[in-house]
Amino acid sequence: MSGILCDNKALADAWYAVARSIEVGASPVKATVLQRDIVLYRTAAGDIVAAPDRCPHREAPLSAGTIEDGCLVCPYHGWTFGADGKCVRVPSSAEGVPAPPKAHLNRYHVQEQYGLVFVCIGEPSAPLFTIDQDTDPAFRRINTPVEPWKASATRMADNFCDITHFPYVHVGTFGRGQDTLVPKIELGPLDNSWYGYSYAVKANNDSSLGSLASGQTGDVVDRQMSTGFDLPFNVRSTITYENGLSHIILMLSTPIDDVNSYFTFVIWRNDDFSVAAEDVIRFDMAIGAEDKRMLELVPGVLALDLTETVSVQADKCSVEWRRQLIAYMNPTPTEMLAKQPA
Ligand code: FES
Ligand SMILES: [Fe+2]
Repeated sequence: MSGILCDNKALADAWYAVARSIEVGASPVKATVLQRDIVLYRTAAGDIVAAPDRCPHREAPLSAGTIEDGCLVCPYHGWTFGADGKCVRVPSSAEGVPAPPKAHLNRYHVQEQYGLVFVCIGEPSAPLFTIDQDTDPAFRRINTPVEPWKASATRMADNFCDITHFPYVHVGTFGRGQDTLVPKIELGPLDNSWYGYSYAVKANNDSSLGSLASGQTGDVVDRQMSTGFDLPFNVRSTITYENGLSHIILMLSTPIDDVNSYFTFVIWRNDDFSVAAEDVIRFDMAIGAEDKRMLELVPGVLALDLTETVSVQADKCSVEWRRQLIAYMNPTPTEMLAKQPA
């Protein structure tokens, strides 16, 4: 285990999206967070189990194993683990001989929210963020695949907080012809744990995909937007069009290691549900592909010393995110004590 992100205790104590709920079923699957390989499967009762993807016997990946009678069976010598992580069977040992004490699996914290499976490989330091619209019947939720990107989660969250790349990176979608000048940014708390700013933009709308997403025609549409972050790497943008349509985009980056990440986004919309979900997300998928193309060109972890990169007023949100991330990754002794369970 090594790396500025992978070695950080505070980052290990955060929640990360690793899969869509529909992807974790009765067969084991693998994910990686901060260089820890994880095996995930769903029990007959519908609960998800997450554990290290390493058999304590000879380190075979349990994700290559099978589920039999609700237990995870290692593909190498058949050691078998219950949903609580206990080793319940060692086939090479005589009946009645207990498994060695260190044969059990330490499970990871896991929860399902927003159509996704979130894992914490340490001890959760805070509850998962809240998206109020998820329980509002006027809104529908649309999930998208969890994709590996060859980019650091630090660069991804920085990018999702940044609107100055729109007229350049997003020329193929909504950014073409967008004003490059960014009005003064006023940062502050948004709702729940989200922190960021609100602003107005004119977005290119001259494609059929753009029109489907905005619910209106015309070459350009006015958007009221907010962009905010929740530490460490969660970013949310909200868009409200003049026709009252709200379109919320949650962008989640999970560090696989320092320089590779999973990316997934989730949409909430209060439309009339008449446009198929695949069509609604096609525009955002194209936008995500533009970000991916750019970010995979930028090597390494974004410097965690603010003086190593140059920023201007328009970068205020991403600079504030990074300032707060640096503090989050380096808590003071008093903050560490405050986070310990009583
Ligand atoms: S490595 Fe898993 S049973 Fe031997
Ligand atoms: Fe972007």
